Amino acid sequence: MKFSIRNVIPERVKTGCLVLGVFRGSAKSGLPDFPEATRRVDQAAAGRLRKLATAGDLSGRKSSTLVLHGVTGVSATRVLLVGLGARAEFTENAYRESLRAAAAATKDLGATDAVVCIPDGELAESTSRKLAWRVRHAVFMLGDAFYRFEGLKSRNAAHPWKLQELTIGLSSRPDSATQKAFDAAVATLGGVSLARTLGNLPANVCTPTYLADEARKLARQFKIGIEVLERRDMEKLGMGALLAVTRGTAEPPKLIVLKYQGGSKDARPVVLIGKGITFDTGGISLKPSAEMDEMKFDMSGAASVLGAVRALAAMKATVNVIGLIPACENMPSGTAIKPGDIVKSMSGQTVEILNTDAEGRLILCDALTYCERFNPDIVVDVATLTGACVIALGHVASGLFSNHQPLANEIMGAADEAWDRVWQLPLWEDYQDGLRSNFADMANVGGRPAGSITAACYLARFTRKLRWAHLDIAGTAWKSGREKGSTGRPVPLLVQLALARADRR
Ligand code: BES
Ligand code: MN
Ligand code: ZN
Repeated sequence: MKFSIRNVIPERVKTGCLVLGVFRGSAKSGLPDFPEATRRVDQAAAGRLRKLATAGDLSGRKSSTLVLHGVTGVSATRVLLVGLGARAEFTENAYRESLRAAAAATKDLGATDAVVCIPDGELAESTSRKLAWRVRHAVFMLGDAFYRFEGLKSRNAAHPWKLQELTIGLSSRPDSATQKAFDAAVATLGGVSLARTLGNLPANVCTPTYLADEARKLARQFKIGIEVLERRDMEKLGMGALLAVTRGTAEPPKLIVLKYQGGSKDARPVVLIGKGITFDTGGISLKPSAEMDEMKFDMSGAASVLGAVRALAAMKATVNVIGLIPACENMPSGTAIKPGDIVKSMSGQTVEILNTDAEGRLILCDALTYCERFNPDIVVDVATLTGACVIALGHVASGLFSNHQPLANEIMGAADEAWDRVWQLPLWEDYQDGLRSNFADMANVGGRPAGSITAACYLARFTRKLRWAHLDIAGTAWKSGREKGSTGRPVPLLVQLALARADRR
């Protein structure tokens, strides 16, 4: 999809499809409530929309749509009216859903381009989202609707929609903040798409080697520095925890290091670490077979780091970012680690692996130690770490943990702006008790209670020298069921976080 943004006169813009919003009228008057662009079009069309509303055919009900052809007085071939619901309830979610509805409705049309005017109208008074926010989320939602995972069905259907170009139509020329938000959103969308595709690819395609090759491609395309550490490098570094996880598989492990230098040479980098388990069987602590296929998404953290780095490089963000991805498979076999095995992490701390299915923290702890050499300003790791996080927060918020409250606050701010939301959970020392081991410095699992927190507490033992935050994206990285597929989260959040730092300079 090609995106653009410009100043348009709604009734005069030449397009295959003009997309306008309609608020639900008040119950008392029953009259429709039109945003400015819609009001102008109604006026140019001699009150045609108003008549439709009076006749009861244009309710403005949330996500309802109506297509009109040949509206006299209007240059667009079609007018697509999208119900926005009540004006007072037109908050962030309603706004975003209205764009999803608009995108869905255009899919059945013959139009090859559309001009969408919904972002030009205000949200409910109770929210205070600027035009830049509305534009950003219009790009995200429209882009999301037109994402396709292609290439693995043998009968590739012809493109299921005709639309190729989407323009965000504004009543005045976009100011620099709006233009910047638009450009950043388009670049972010590219990163989201990359993350989704990597997540959706099956584990027999998307191996650690494949991830490393994708990272190399990125590096070449955007002139980013790259280094890929192999098993022998990990051995030299003493990454006993990472090496323990990869023992059970024939697939070679990789530690991918991407170095994007958009900021000044001496600026300390933002380090993003992504869990890259390309398939998690659980190992000898084997998972039940139901829905085990979804463990191909266990590299979603890695995918989001690749996506974020791609987005930031594409928009030439003035910030230094290091993407660090420990990647391997977690398989049971004759060479696999066993419950009770004790290994030495790169930090020197020993770990009793009581459950081989708690592998994410094992590969992350060595990556966290490794990243100290980059003298990071902040470190954020992103991981599909615990099923417990899905139980705690469902599929709405990612779990946030941090040893540095200003960083947690910064992340919560970026998450709100990106509408890629997080919820902070405690990292209190009290929870460390669960990781006690009789035989090593720590165990890799606590009990069932507060599973996400004890996982974060484990990581905290490797980040004492860092300003660090951990995002548990187990509930947010993909959807199950009929809509099964990667969401690309938290790419928008990571990009926003890094961008806010670029602006701060
Ligand atoms: N990748 C899983 C976490 C997961 C499970 C994410 C289900 C999304 C859905 C992780 O490696 C894992 O297996 N965690 C265990 C930890 C436990 C053994 C302490 C879990 O959550 O059950
Ligand atoms: Mn696991
Ligand atoms: Zn896992």
